[in-house]
Formats: sequence, C-alpha cells, structure tokens
Amino acid sequence: MHIYSRLLDHPLALDARIAIYRREAAGYRIPHWGSHTYAAQYVSRWRMKNGEEILFRPIRPEDEPLMVEFHKTLSEQSVYLRYRRPESLRTRIAHERLIRRCCIDSSEGMALVAVLTDPDTGQHEILAIGRLSNMPTGRKAEMAVLVSDSYQRLGLGTELVRRLIQVARDEDMEEIIANFLPENFGMRALANRFGFQLRTSSDPTALTAVLNLTDADARDITRRYAGRHLCV
Ligand SMILES: CC(C)(COP(=O)(O)OP(=O)(O)OC[C@H]1O[C@@H](n2cnc3c(N)ncnc32)[C@H](O)[C@@H]1OP(=O)(O)O)[C@@H](O)C(=O)NCCC(=O)NCCS
Repeated sequence: MHIYSRLLDHPLALDARIAIYRREAAGYRIPHWGSHTYAAQYVSRWRMKNGEEILFRPIRPEDEPLMVEFHKTLSEQSVYLRYRRPESLRTRIAHERLIRRCCIDSSEGMALVAVLTDPDTGQHEILAIGRLSNMPTGRKAEMAVLVSDSYQRLGLGTELVRRLIQVARDEDMEEIIANFLPENFGMRALANRFGFQLRTSSDPTALTAVLNLTDADARDITRRYAGRHLCV
C-alpha cells in the first residue's frame, strides 16, 4: 500500500493504492515504493516564447486542485483533439479520475506538468501536461500532450515532447507512440519535428505516429531542440 504524503509540513493522505503484480512481471515494471522518490532530475525552469518563466516537474498527488483549474481553461476543441471525443468538464475533473491521473508511479509511466507561478500572489497554475503511459507489452509508451489554450504556440508542446522523449530514454523504452486525429495539425507538426513516423492505425479515425528510440537519427533531432529556453 502506498499512501501519498508529500506535503512537507502537513502530511496529507490523499489516497491509498494497492497494486498486485503477476509473479512473472518484469522487474522494471514493478515500482520500488520505498525508493520511489520524487524524480528530481525532471524538475527545471524554462522560458516560454513570451518570456515568462515556468517550472517543468513531474505531477504530484497534491496537484489535483490545480488540474481542476487547468481543465477549466481548455476549449472544447482542445479537449476533443486530446481525447479524440468530447469529454465533459465534470468527467475530466471527477476526483476518482484525477487522483489516479495525479498519482503516477514509474511502473505506469510519467507525467510532467508546466507550472507558472504568479510572482505577486505565489499562486501556481498548470499550463500544460505531457504524459507517457507504459504499454502493457514491450518497452513502449504512449505519449499525450495537452496545453492550455491561452498558452499554445509558445513552445510548451515542443518542450514537453522533448522532455518526455528523454524520460522514455532514461527508462530504456524502445518506442514512443502517439495517436491523434488526422486534423490535429499541431500534433502532426510536433510528431514531424521529432522524427516520428506515421503508421496506419487499427483505429481508422486516428493517425499513429511512432518514434523508434533505438534509431540514432531520433537522438540527433531531440538534441536540436535541447534546452533552447532553459533557465538553469
Ligand atoms: C498540439 C499541442 C500539444 C501543441 O502544443 P503547443 O504548445 O502549441 O506547441 P508549440 O508551441 O511547441 O508548437 C509547435 C509547432 O506545432 C505547430 N502547431 C502548433 N499548433 C498548431 C496548430 N493549431 N495548427 C498548425 N500548427 C500548429 C507549429 O508548427 C508550431 O511551431 P511554431 O509555433 O514554431 O510554428 C497543443 O496545440 C494542444 O494541446 N492541443 C490540444 C490537445 C492535443 O491535440 N494534444 C495532442 C493529442 S496526443
């Protein structure tokens, strides 16, 4: 059982989880609860194209209220493009759903959020989230990215994808897969930018883009976008 209690001054059990693994589960898929510390290597500041500084970091259980606010900022179009169907705000911010989405462990993948802090009030706002979900077979992960409408076209999508590719590499993944609608030109551009190859999908309404991480060319492409706006 894993009880999340990461608020330093006021430990708070938000939820509890029990994970049961098959005896033959590969070692890398089983989280080491005791040693599963906050993935500090994925925390760093970065500057958007508008000059504002944000923090990229892994999502945390206590982000649930921020995720509720984030979902309120999304247009129907962005939601449709992300989930490939309409998804009501009520469904997206349901506690049962969000607590699972905010509590990620390394056996499931990784979710990074981009957080803006108001210098006057100290209030935090999640501007974007990128998620890698490990697939049940093979060393493959599915990637999804979602950027708040007012902060699109500021480089967040590109930087999230770049960072998720790094996470996948660190986890020894061999492939990243992204499924999106053919009319999703933003995601098509991102996939193209990082050298994803389009493949036919079992779902005729979606495109599947695949990045083979064992390919040396893919490594060069991510380097090209490395740290363009990094602020320490
Ligand atoms: C797709 C998405 C993640 C892109 O995020 P972003 O922060 O706007 O991306 P960037 O600012 O890094 O833009 C990267 C490039 O994508 C292209 N692009 C982004 N949005 C675009 C759009 N709406 N139409 C056409 N091209 C677009 C541009 O070429 C852009 O580069 P440029 O601004 O230098 O010209 C964002 O639009 C989004 O969240 N969409 C809704 C959810 C979604 O579709 N998620 C993907 C499903 S897996």
